Amino acid sequence: SISVDNVQALASEELKDIPIRYVRPEIESEAVLMDESLQVPVIDFNKLSVPGKPGYEDELAKLHVACRDWGFFQLINHGVSEVMNEMKKVTEEFFKLPLEEKMKYAQISGIIEGYGQAFVVSEDKNSIGVTCSISKTFDHYSNELNGVSKELFKFMSTNLGMEPNAISRLYENCIQSIRMNYYPPCRVADKVLGLAPHSDQTGLTLLVQVNEVQGLQIKKNSKWVPIKPIPGSIIVNIGDIMEIMSNGEYRSIEHRVTINLEKERISIAAFHTPGLEVKIGPLPEIIKEKTTKYKTIDVEDYLRLSISNKLDGKSLIEQMK
Ligand code: SIN
Ligand code: FE2
Repeated sequence: SISVDNVQALASEELKDIPIRYVRPEIESEAVLMDESLQVPVIDFNKLSVPGKPGYEDELAKLHVACRDWGFFQLINHGVSEVMNEMKKVTEEFFKLPLEEKMKYAQISGIIEGYGQAFVVSEDKNSIGVTCSISKTFDHYSNELNGVSKELFKFMSTNLGMEPNAISRLYENCIQSIRMNYYPPCRVADKVLGLAPHSDQTGLTLLVQVNEVQGLQIKKNSKWVPIKPIPGSIIVNIGDIMEIMSNGEYRSIEHRVTINLEKERISIAAFHTPGLEVKIGPLPEIIKEKTTKYKTIDVEDYLRLSISNKLDGKSLIEQMK
């Protein structure tokens, strides 16, 4: 197997040219298709804390529009700031470690957990995710975010006309994975991408940015809309599984990450997938007399399909139609 260079190490060297694998000729022509005027909806978690409280109904309605028309929103007043800040700190410290130190956490072939390349397809077509379990902070963070996602599922269920636990019960044995992303600065930032366009193949993603460096962009009306993160917020997005389960009512939106000329960018993504006993397909409560737009398959089959698909636009969800 041929290994891919470590991008963080690569970026710290004085290279004349970047390896061709990272060059994306399409992004220059796409640069014109930007819309900076749009912003994803902001949802105030606090307003959803007590049903019937002033502002509750409005916020619930706003959340529905966000999931349906945007597939993305920023969550504020989520109540997990303390552990989130701690998690940001340990993540930053981890990436500052010398390469030899980080390599002690390296992924072992066949096991997802560990330090390595995220979604850079090497010559041997090995596409691997980065998850890294470093401390108690990590466990605490993952529990808290699990809690936030369960709450969001409740509101989404209500908004989709189902009983509040209709979605969250499918996540009782939730498979959660956390990926810490490091995007180095790059002199030819306009020729490379941090992450190629893709939609998340999981159910729900909760993403935080460690520093203020922008980079995430989402596809809206055929244009790329940059997300301007509100400090301390959680960026939430609907994944393919949620799109499928809602029979297309909620949308899993294509997004990508651009690179900054001078500054590094660090993000932490928490992905949530239903337990292995769950079937992935439109929920019967949603279908009723409507036409089913997606197939129904076991989570295990879905995950197999997802692993065999490299992160490539919406190809996985297309196969579920
Ligand atoms: C992702 O799409 O998984 C990561 C997004 C980001 O780093 O902002
Ligand atoms: Fe993503």
